[in-house]
Amino acid sequence: MSTHPSPPEDMLIEYDVSPLSFVEETAIARVWKVARVDGQNAALKIYKKASMGNEAAGFFFLEALNGSAVANVYRRTSNSALIEWLDGHSLGDLTRRGEDEKAAKELVAVANRIHSFPLPPKDEYAKLEDWLEALFTVGFAQACPPSSRQNILRCQVLARQLIEQPHDIRPLHGDLHHDNIRLGDRGYCAFDAKGVLGERTYELANAFRNPKGAFDLVHDVNRVRYLCDLWSKHFDVEPLRLIQWAAVKCALSMVWRGRGVLELDPEFSLLEIFLAVSEEY
Ligand SMILES: Nc1ncnc2c1ncn2[C@@H]1O[C@H](COP(=O)(O)OP(=O)(O)OP(=O)(O)O)[C@@H](O)[C@H]1O
Ligand SMILES: [Mg+2]
Repeated sequence: MSTHPSPPEDMLIEYDVSPLSFVEETAIARVWKVARVDGQNAALKIYKKASMGNEAAGFFFLEALNGSAVANVYRRTSNSALIEWLDGHSLGDLTRRGEDEKAAKELVAVANRIHSFPLPPKDEYAKLEDWLEALFTVGFAQACPPSSRQNILRCQVLARQLIEQPHDIRPLHGDLHHDNIRLGDRGYCAFDAKGVLGERTYELANAFRNPKGAFDLVHDVNRVRYLCDLWSKHFDVEPLRLIQWAAVKCALSMVWRGRGVLELDPEFSLLEIFLAVSEEY
């Protein structure tokens, strides 16, 4: 029998759903599969704190797309959301079972479908520039290797250059990677958005570091080159800016993980690869 808790009774009443199974505990939330009264399944995501905090911008983004290449958000409260259930595999599953090129093509197709829908900038979104403050103000512990420190400083310079010449700023999903896209009844759909205003190119930056569970592949320089080539063509962005954004996102993720102070990080070597590929353009 599962040791995982059922969704709280008040949430089941609030959403008029019955519990089917526990799906996952994340750092900040729990996800259940539930059934609605109309028989449709749904994902019920309940945040551990009283508010979903900055994840609200992500739901604002998904709602604005109204189901266009993203999961429908049926309803939400300040700390929970009921979302269309996506029953199939994720693009991460595809990569992990050896179909990385198919996953890469499906990922950029989802990005294009999302971006074919014009969205006005709104105050509800976070700003990519604000996120980058953490990178600009990072500190280094003694144990941080000098070469890694140099690479982070290079990313600070790159990030400043990128934001000083803004290209096509619009609302972005902000966390579009393999495990945030699953196959549903309406085709592949994204979910788990951040909702951030930033350069369109940034939309594909985080996917270079993904999926989890494919370490050797993610660190294969030929895969990095392949993704940069494929995605820049299919998403109609400059390959150099794309790989530069991938490097900047990689650095930003390390800074977030280190809570502002970098010591040792498992992605130092990946950042080195992204920067090396950026030198090829
Ligand atoms: N609509 C959905 N349909 C099917 N599975 C889902 C759905 N929403 C979430 N899941 C499952 O739950 C997992 C975790 O959900 P989600 O991606 O929203 O959070 P996370 O990225 O793990 O963490 P965080 O809460 O920090 O954003 C997903 O990877 C997926 O396996
Ligand atoms: Mg996720």
